[in-house]
Amino acid sequence: MNVEMPKVDTAAELQRSEFLLIGCRHGSEAALEIRQKIAFPLFRKSYWRKGLVTFRVPSLTLTNSQWNDFRIPTDVLDNLVFGRIGIRSLGQVTGQTEEERITATHQLLTSIRFQNVHVWKRDPRLNVDTESIHRKLTDSLMSLNEKLFLPTTHLILNCVVDSEDRWWIGVHSDESRGAQWSGGYYPNQIPAHKISRAWLKLDEAIARFEIHFHPGDRVCELGAAPGGACQRLLEADLEVVGVDPAAIDSQIARHPRFTHWKKRARDIKMKSFYGFDWILTDMNIDPASTMTALERILVSPSLRPQGIIATLKLSDVSIAEKIGDWCASFGSWGYQTRVQQLSTGGQEICLVAQKACDHKSK
Ligand SMILES: C[S@@+](CC[C@H](N)C(=O)[O-])C[C@H]1O[C@@H](n2cnc3c(N)ncnc32)[C@H](O)[C@@H]1O
Repeated sequence: MNVEMPKVDTAAELQRSEFLLIGCRHGSEAALEIRQKIAFPLFRKSYWRKGLVTFRVPSLTLTNSQWNDFRIPTDVLDNLVFGRIGIRSLGQVTGQTEEERITATHQLLTSIRFQNVHVWKRDPRLNVDTESIHRKLTDSLMSLNEKLFLPTTHLILNCVVDSEDRWWIGVHSDESRGAQWSGGYYPNQIPAHKISRAWLKLDEAIARFEIHFHPGDRVCELGAAPGGACQRLLEADLEVVGVDPAAIDSQIARHPRFTHWKKRARDIKMKSFYGFDWILTDMNIDPASTMTALERILVSPSLRPQGIIATLKLSDVSIAEKIGDWCASFGSWGYQTRVQQLSTGGQEICLVAQKACDHKSK
């Protein structure tokens, strides 16, 4: 189907869109800057607050066609790793009242069209009702100019509440799964009766990375206790082995498709890992040791799991410098990697590696 895109005065808009807003976890700003310096040395650090950092993107970069139509190339968030969401800034609005800020927002939207509005807080602790702002902003924009809303465009308007009287306005493209979630925050909550938060982390990873398990797949998790992630895997009809010297919740331990190997990862014989489709790791050890545990399995020609979902704990932000090396190691073992800090996780990153021939690049 041919969708006619709205006519946008791109040159004029780009003048104002030279700032990139990145939403990240509180405390991950320094790690994100490390990644920016490695991957995008031409970006210039600008406005810098907990949970929201901005970069000035040089105009030369913006002339690359991948930045057309207010898009951000997918490799930007992929390489920044610690960015949950990336937004093209249209500007900042301030004002004592919400009405003033809504009017100022409207003035920024000269020729932009968007399908939807996301309102989210830079700091989740900020005492601001984003649902109410969303309702008022949407209603006002609709009544001022209903043509601003165009269901066929890929753009989503963002109102990032920075403080009680300051909003950042920008747009992003809805083209990835995480980009469809307001602020890049995984919208699901942990349901009652789940064994640990690891259930939700894995649920987000499956959704964000669009991981497809097949019923009956055999999965082994290193660092499985008390069993939240295994619970999520069992719900996907998989055969699950949990490796952990610690106790597994009895609800999981007695499940007919679950087996507990009550040992440390390195004490498991290599031949035991034969036939697994996926290996997960969530051990509370340093990332180099997690990589060693994975290397032992992945270099063996007879053990070729189709995918790995690894949680790598970042005890220190400087470890962010190592991410490129870890991805290169996976590459040398024949896997393609994607890495991101999840919105439901802690000071850690989630690395998903899939066999190069199985991975369908998007
Ligand atoms: C964050 S918890 C894992 C949470 C778990 N994935 C869940 O879904 O509930 C970290 C676990 O790693 C385990 N662990 C630490 N070192 C390990 C090792 N060398 N081998 C296996 N498990 C290990 C710890 O016993 C601990 O239970």
